Amino acid sequence: MTRKDEGIGRILIEEAEIREAVREIAAFLDAETTGRTPLLVGVLTGAVTFMSDLMRAMENHVEIDFMAVSSYGDDTTSSGVVRILKDLNKDIAGRHVVVVEDIVDSGLTLQYLLDHLARREPARITVVALLRKNKPDAVDVQVDRTGFDIPDEFVVGYGLDYAGRYRNVPYIGVLDPSAIREWV
Ligand code: PRP
Repeated sequence: MTRKDEGIGRILIEEAEIREAVREIAAFLDAETTGRTPLLVGVLTGAVTFMSDLMRAMENHVEIDFMAVSSYGDDTTSSGVVRILKDLNKDIAGRHVVVVEDIVDSGLTLQYLLDHLARREPARITVVALLRKNKPDAVDVQVDRTGFDIPDEFVVGYGLDYAGRYRNVPYIGVLDPSAIREWV
């Protein structure tokens, strides 16, 4: 155990399982985008790790861009408020856009993002998410491929943070409730 693992109660998804899921999602996207160069749109900040591994696992040409949106503060529940902090650099009209998300929780961020992107008339939008929470009250939003359906617990690692920490943990872990209390 290293310093960055402190506060993690248990490992939910091991590194090897993540690698396998990333390979499967990359193969799915290669098949979906044959003969085209998709624009992978990573949703900052959490998706950087997934994006980085996913694009390297793909065999097709890709271009990448990023958007930054905000839906959470340092809290552990969704606020439902979505703001665009950084928009795309590239024009997506007529292009095949692949939205790359680390986690779909309430679905509000993705719903907002998809509406926003659709207005720019891309040829097609595909959505991949490494994690999707099992939440009965989540909005019904387009997700074409998911790595893992996970229970409604606060997860960190592989890009996901708590109060800015744990993004550099290589697995997905569940935060110990005492760690949450310590830092509020
Ligand atoms: C996370 C995640 C999604 C969003 C999902 O981002 O990356 O974008 O929350 O939640 P929702 O489905 O309830 O809307 P967050 O706002 O925590 O920002 P971060 O990626 O910078 O940590």
